[in-house]
Amino acid sequence: MTETTANDKQTIAQNLKGRDFLSLTDYSTEEILYLIDLAIDLKHKQKNGEIYQPLKGKTLGMIFEKSSTRTRVSFEVGMYQLGGHALFLSKDDLQLGRGETIRDTGRTMSRYLDGIMLRTFAHRNVIELARGATVPVINGLTDMAHPCQALADYQTIYEKKGRLKGLKLAYIGDGNNMVQSLMVGAAKLGVHIAVATPPGYEPKQEVLESCKEYAEKSGAVIELTHDPKEAASQADVIYTDVWASMGFEDEHEERLKVFQPYQVNLELVQHAKDDFLFMHCLPAKRGEEVSDAVIDGEHSIVFDQAENRLHAQKAIMAAIM
Ligand code: CP
Ligand code: NVA
Repeated sequence: MTETTANDKQTIAQNLKGRDFLSLTDYSTEEILYLIDLAIDLKHKQKNGEIYQPLKGKTLGMIFEKSSTRTRVSFEVGMYQLGGHALFLSKDDLQLGRGETIRDTGRTMSRYLDGIMLRTFAHRNVIELARGATVPVINGLTDMAHPCQALADYQTIYEKKGRLKGLKLAYIGDGNNMVQSLMVGAAKLGVHIAVATPPGYEPKQEVLESCKEYAEKSGAVIELTHDPKEAASQADVIYTDVWASMGFEDEHEERLKVFQPYQVNLELVQHAKDDFLFMHCLPAKRGEEVSDAVIDGEHSIVFDQAENRLHAQKAIMAAIM
C-alpha cells in the first residue's frame, strides 16, 4: 500500500514495540499506514485459515468502565487468535472502584499482564494508567478519542476505495470522541474531512489546532461547518455517530431536538458522490442520527467496519505487545 521499503518497515516495527496506543496523535503517518497494512495482512491470514500466534503465552487485561459489544468481543477474540489470552475486568470488581489509584492499578497489573486495554470516561485516566504501567496500554475509548475505531475505519475505507489521500469524508453529527479521532487520522493521512455539527457541539479547539498542524504536512483539508449539506456535498464517505454518547445520556432529550437537521437520511446523502460509502462506528440509534434506509442501504459498510475492529486491533497488539 505504501512505498516504504523492507528496511523502513523493519525500523517502524522496531519503533512500535512496547509503545502505548492512546491516540493517533502519538503515531506518525508512516506508522498508521504500517498498522493498516498489517491489519489487512492479518485479515488475509485469518480468512485463509493460517494460524499466526506471535502472542502465545501473553495476556491482555481489559478494563471496562463503560458498556461495549464490539470492543470487548473483538479484543478477546483477537487475543485468542494471536495465541494469547484476554481477561475481562469490570471497574466494579476491581479495587479501582473502591479508590485504588489508576496509576497503582497500572503498576500492579503490569506485574501479571503483557498489555492493558482501558475504556473509560476522562482521557487523563488512560494517560495515568500508562504512566503507572510498564506494559503497553491501549485506549479502548475515552470521552476524547476512539483511536482503535478510527484505525479500523481508515483500513475499511482503504479496502473499499483503494486509496485514502484526497478522499472527502463528511462527518455529520456530534463533535465527540469519534470525530476527533477521525479528524486526527484524516489530518495525518491526507484525507479531506468536513465536519458538520450544530453550533455548540463542535470538536474541541485543541484537536482542531493540532489537526491543522498535521494537515500542513499531509495536504489534508480540515473543514468545520454547521451546514450538513455543505459537508455532505461531493463526499466519498458519509459518517455519523450517536447524538448522545455514553456519559451524556441525561442530555438525550435536548439533543434530539438540536440534532434533528443533522440526521443522515436519503435526502442528505443525495449531496454525496454516487458511489459514496456510509459509515457508523455502531451502536446506532436508528431513526435518530441515521434512517433505516441509509444504514441498511447498498452504500452502507457499517458491518465491514465492525469486523475490521478485530483485524486492526490484532495489528495493534501484534505490533506493540
Ligand atoms: N464501536 C464500538 O466501540 O462499539 P462498542 O461500544 O460496542 O465496543
Ligand atoms: N461516541 C460513542 C461511540 C461509541 C462506540 C460513545 O462514546 O458512546
